[in-house]
Amino acid sequence: MSFASDLKVLYHLTLSPIRGKTHAERLESFYGAQAGAYDDFRKRLLKGRQELFESLEIPQGGVWMDFGAGTGSNAEWFGPRLNQLGKGYLVDLSGSLLGVAKQRIAERGWTNLETLEADATTVSVPEGQIDLATFSYSLTMIPDWFAAIDRAYELLKPGGQIGIVDFYVSRKYPREGAARHGWFTRNFWPTWFGSDNVFPNADHLPYLERKFELVSLVEAKAKVPYMPFFRVPIYRFVGRKRA
Ligand SMILES: C[S@@+](CC[C@H](N)C(=O)[O-])C[C@H]1O[C@@H](n2cnc3c(N)ncnc32)[C@H](O)[C@@H]1O
Repeated sequence: MSFASDLKVLYHLTLSPIRGKTHAERLESFYGAQAGAYDDFRKRLLKGRQELFESLEIPQGGVWMDFGAGTGSNAEWFGPRLNQLGKGYLVDLSGSLLGVAKQRIAERGWTNLETLEADATTVSVPEGQIDLATFSYSLTMIPDWFAAIDRAYELLKPGGQIGIVDFYVSRKYPREGAARHGWFTRNFWPTWFGSDNVFPNADHLPYLERKFELVSLVEAKAKVPYMPFFRVPIYRFVGRKRA
C-alpha cells in the first residue's frame, strides 16, 4: 500500500470522468487505469468479503460462479477449500480486471478456475448449471441487477447456495426486524457512489429474500478509507434456491 497508489485510485473514484457508450466501455473507462492498484484499496473499502466467503459451503466437485469477479481475489478467501471445487468461473465484463485475475490463477496454480469475459445478466456455462453463486460488490454496479439475480437463480441447481455482500440502503419503512436507515444515510450514499456508477439500493434485500430461502443475513456499517466520520451500510446475504 502506498499513498501514491491510493491517490491514483482516489482520482479515478472522485475526479476522472467515466466515458463510454456501453456498460462494458464505461467499466473499462473506470477500471482500466486502476486495475493494478485495485486490490489494495478495495481491501479497505469493500468489507465483509472474507466473512462471506469463509461462511459459504463449498460444493464437493461442484461448480462455482463469481458474478462480477473483478481481479478474482475472492478465490483467496476459500483457501485450501478451493481444491474441493470441480470448477470455478470468474465472470466479469472488464478485461483489465480479468487480466489481473488470469495472472493470479496462473501464479497460484489454480487449475480448476477460469475467467469468463461475459455479462453477468446473460452468462452461461458448459456444465449448464452451477452449485454456488456469489456477488461481492458487483450487484450495485450492474444496471439491470434484477436480471443478474434472475440469471444466478436460473443457473443454480435446486438447493444451490447464493452469497452476496454489497453496499445498500434500507427502505424508509423496511420489514419488521430489518435495519432502518435515516434520511441522510438513505440519500447520501446513493448520491456519493452514483458518480462512480455504483448504486446502493433499497430493493436488493427484499428481492433476494423473496427469491431465495434465507440461510443468513447480516446488516452492518463499515468504515470508508479517508472518511473517518462516515460509516456505509453493507449487508451479507446467504440464501438457498428452494428445492
Ligand atoms: C466493485 S467491483 C467488485 C469486484 C470483485 N467482486 C471484488 O469484490 O473485488 C464490481 C465488478 O462488477 C463488474 N461488473 C459490473 N457490471 C457487470 C456485468 N454486467 N457483468 C459482469 N461484471 C460486471 C465490474 O467490472 C467490477 O469488476
